[in-house]
Amino acid sequence: MKRIICKNYDEVSLLGAEILAKQIHKNPQSILGLATGSTPVGMYKKLVEMHKKNGLDFSQITTFNLDEYYPIKKSSDQSYDFFMRDNLFSHVNIKPENIHLPNGESANPEEECIAYEQMLAESGGVDIQVLGIGVNGHIGFNEPEDELKLATHLTNLTPSTIEANARFFKNIKDVPTKALTMGIGTIMKSKSILLLITGGNKAPVVKKLFSGVVTTDVPASFLHLHPDVTVLLDEAAVTAENR
Ligand code: GLP
Repeated sequence: MKRIICKNYDEVSLLGAEILAKQIHKNPQSILGLATGSTPVGMYKKLVEMHKKNGLDFSQITTFNLDEYYPIKKSSDQSYDFFMRDNLFSHVNIKPENIHLPNGESANPEEECIAYEQMLAESGGVDIQVLGIGVNGHIGFNEPEDELKLATHLTNLTPSTIEANARFFKNIKDVPTKALTMGIGTIMKSKSILLLITGGNKAPVVKKLFSGVVTTDVPASFLHLHPDVTVLLDEAAVTAENR
């Protein structure tokens, strides 16, 4: 794991956007794995700026998002589908047919997961997967459990994740209790990974992540086994002992 400590959120966002832009320049037909949550919002803003000011071209880019609540309507402003349109897709020249998210409206979530995994495989695989991390160490919606699932699956959200995500909903009771998520194996198949971690509330999980073990208690710790992971952290997320 390559660790880069940036001064603040803005620096993480800029560097993250530069890494993705470099990938897009290197291969204009890149397959990007994308994430939601507050952390990548600044990075998406910078990418939109790069598109508008410098013509960063998304016309041949394909995207696969990590996860989606289940069940949820795409039109709901809490859906990840809405989030991605709002923060990135509506502002760049990506083709709608090249955008993929697990379908939170599917009547058959198990079939949806199999189809999503197959589409990913047929695409040739993700070139760079963006990740955030939950305060409990989850990536996508792979929550701490005795066993982690390899493939895309329907999962139950833990009370801590429901609580953490309640800020996006009117009432905690409105937070879906399930989600469709790429599995740990799906994520590990990406050719490279960009993990963004910002804010003091992530300092405890950063400490666990860099404690020198791999454990299903901290699903992100499996990333230590991947050969090409870059972690961008801001100073707030890194305590003195972790430097
Ligand atoms: C959400 C998403 C994750 C995200 C994480 C952290 O539940 N499923 O993909 O990385 O929580 O979110 P945030 O960046 O808002 O802290």
